[in-house]
Amino acid sequence: MKTSGPIRSVRGMRDLLPPETNLWQRVEAEAHRIFAAYHYGEIRTPVMEQTGLFSRSVGADTDIVMKEMYTFEDRDDESLTLRPEATASVVRAYIEHSLYNQGGIHKLYYMGPMFRRERPQKGRYRQFYQIGAEVLGSENPLVDAEVLEMLVLFLERLGIREYQLLLNSVGCPRCRAEYLAVLREALQGVKGSMCADCLRRAETNPQRVLDCKVEADQPIIEKLPKIIDHLDPECRRHFDRVTSELQARGIPYQVTPRLVRGLDYYTRTTFEITSGALGAQNAVLGGGRYDGLSEMLGGPPTPGIGFSIGQDRLILAVQAAAALESGTPLAAYVVWMGEAALPPAARLARELRAQGLNAEIDYDPMKIKKAMGVASKHQARFAIIIGEGELASGRYQVKDMRSGEQKEVEPQNIGIHIKDIIEISKY
Ligand code: HAM
Repeated sequence: MKTSGPIRSVRGMRDLLPPETNLWQRVEAEAHRIFAAYHYGEIRTPVMEQTGLFSRSVGADTDIVMKEMYTFEDRDDESLTLRPEATASVVRAYIEHSLYNQGGIHKLYYMGPMFRRERPQKGRYRQFYQIGAEVLGSENPLVDAEVLEMLVLFLERLGIREYQLLLNSVGCPRCRAEYLAVLREALQGVKGSMCADCLRRAETNPQRVLDCKVEADQPIIEKLPKIIDHLDPECRRHFDRVTSELQARGIPYQVTPRLVRGLDYYTRTTFEITSGALGAQNAVLGGGRYDGLSEMLGGPPTPGIGFSIGQDRLILAVQAAAALESGTPLAAYVVWMGEAALPPAARLARELRAQGLNAEIDYDPMKIKKAMGVASKHQARFAIIIGEGELASGRYQVKDMRSGEQKEVEPQNIGIHIKDIIEISKY
């Protein structure tokens, strides 16, 4: 072990610093707002769970469970895992707290860190953040449509316009049994020329073959039978209703038969939203139905649907769309000239902050030119200047840094003056 030199953060895990964290907070604030509008309540679950939760739900033969989980033995030999996703935890909590006894639909959302030991690159980290939601207790296709409608509205609120909604149905266990037989048979002829993972999965979990990313396997996968052509009548009707509802709501989508997703719990509707602005890791979010998950985890039959947005990627997309600046511009920067002006300047800063305006003041003396430079650097909308003359007249200079206009205002009216102008310039 290296004993000298500075200690760095763990590979694939990063610090988020201001001003970027301002953007994270604004995205989260927008998420809280949209979830409240659609009547979701927040759930917070632990970042650590028993390992069995994920092998039973995400699936023992998925990349996540086989290669990517941070799993360790606790001091009492219990196997624990840092959560690679949160849907399993939400359903565990739903069962553990018997929420099903309350009847009706449960709409829950969450935000927080997830952990997967993937190869780090832009948009892919070992600690990453998700904003997600789950609806438990309804198999109505209108719920699927409403979930997608909410997602599209959320992206648009954040100024993201360049995205694609990819949609598929992976059917239910009944139609999947028939499909898997067809797929297995088709794989017999070609699996020999596929990668080692596919060769194994052709036997253990054939549907996972469709999710393979190996370049050479792609032309073979393209020709394999598609689940969407093997849906039973009920699943077909469900999917058709989802698509007709999306059309009715004016939400464009692209049916993508290969979209089986990297987790095993899905049934019927699956979806992803990708953005061209992101490069290789282009999935901003993924989700779908999991009507059998509650039973897989020992709970009562409970249909469910949900999604998780990769917040790290969402932030990249927002930055690419440049809709929200990452710094929070200041409303006011208070400039004081001469020791006598410091106490009233500090008082003014406190009053502005108490009125909910973000204000900044420096306590070390500065020449006016430098102070105005600092105001610009902070992107302050107003600089408030207090010097000898202002102290004598009892009116401070309030300079609108955008228009250049300067006005003398009594200290007690400065907050309202600033608020009025900021409000007007929104329109
Ligand atoms: P997922 O597709 O595994 O689904 O992840 C959802 C999103 O999390 C991805 O689209 C991506 O934006 C982000 N993500 C995944 N891995 C990483 C990573 N290593 N670095 C950065 N971002 C990443 C789920 O997690 C399911 N729980 C979604 C769901 C909810 N299905 C139903 N309900």
